Amino acid sequence: MPAPTADDSELAAALGAWFAAQARDLPWRRTRDPYAILVSELMLQQTQVATVIPFYERWLARFPTVDALAAADEAEVLRHWAGLGYYARARNLHRAAQAVVERHGGQFPRTPEEVGALPGVGPYTRGALLSFAFGLRAVMIDANIARVLARLADVQTPIDSTAGQRALESAAEALLPADGESARIANAALMELGALLCKPGEPPCLLCPVKRWCRTTAPAELPRKKPRRGRVALAEACGWIRSADGALLLEQSAGPRWRGLWRLPLLSAPPAGEPLDVSRYPFTHHEITLQVFAAPPPDALSPAQRWVQPEELADFALTAPHLRAIRRLLDVAPTSAR
Ligand code: ADE
Repeated sequence: MPAPTADDSELAAALGAWFAAQARDLPWRRTRDPYAILVSELMLQQTQVATVIPFYERWLARFPTVDALAAADEAEVLRHWAGLGYYARARNLHRAAQAVVERHGGQFPRTPEEVGALPGVGPYTRGALLSFAFGLRAVMIDANIARVLARLADVQTPIDSTAGQRALESAAEALLPADGESARIANAALMELGALLCKPGEPPCLLCPVKRWCRTTAPAELPRKKPRRGRVALAEACGWIRSADGALLLEQSAGPRWRGLWRLPLLSAPPAGEPLDVSRYPFTHHEITLQVFAAPPPDALSPAQRWVQPEELADFALTAPHLRAIRRLLDVAPTSAR
């Protein structure tokens, strides 16, 4: 690790002063509880700050400690995650809580190796726990920090390559103060700078607290990424099936894609006629086109199917694309297809 130069320490000080003056007051910045920080970081992985705040607060009210979460059953955990989508995060959080209880007697570990061995904790989340919760000097690179560092250090290598990741890590190493508490503030400030000013596209560099140190002359072109492999198109046809009393037919998925989550029932083939709703969502290497067709109630329900009244939907952990389609359709679609 290169020793910080006087220049780098001035950079960190400028970042810290900007953070003190400009940072948002976010609930997870008021705590050093590693459990609460882990909850916030997993929620924030694929969801925006404004959406996360109420979920974070409800989550901590229902599962206030790592022991409370470890003891909960998975269905209830998933139900509290409903609305955030990407449920693998909820399953990992649950498993991480169980690992903290089983392997570490309910106390979060503090070594990089043990923290990184918790389910769902990759290098970024490991860094966030070490830095934000424990005040240990640790590099953490999420998408915002990557963009800021790529611009500051003018990293032209694609950041989704090993060499690009190394370049970002060494830029972070050079910039982070030696003392863990100052490094914590520098990490939070880099992230906030990426969220508020150093955004994708053409950023407002005139307002930037660290422009003196920034090496790029073309920020809009950074960070670079490797060319994307094309996604394979897949079609998914589902039924919009209402009962006479207004209930909606849902089905619990058993397949690998959405294990255990609720969704609109799959149709074996798209029926004739126009779909009521069409949407697209990415899934691993696929671009899925979800078409929802009005369909009549089946003669008998399969064991995985259930009639659900619209006001009960909040009790079902639905896949995010299906929940969005249902919200759109509840406003406009006919009550029954017959
Ligand atoms: N995105 C990911 N982690 C975050 C954090 N701790 N604060 C704000 N935004 C974030």
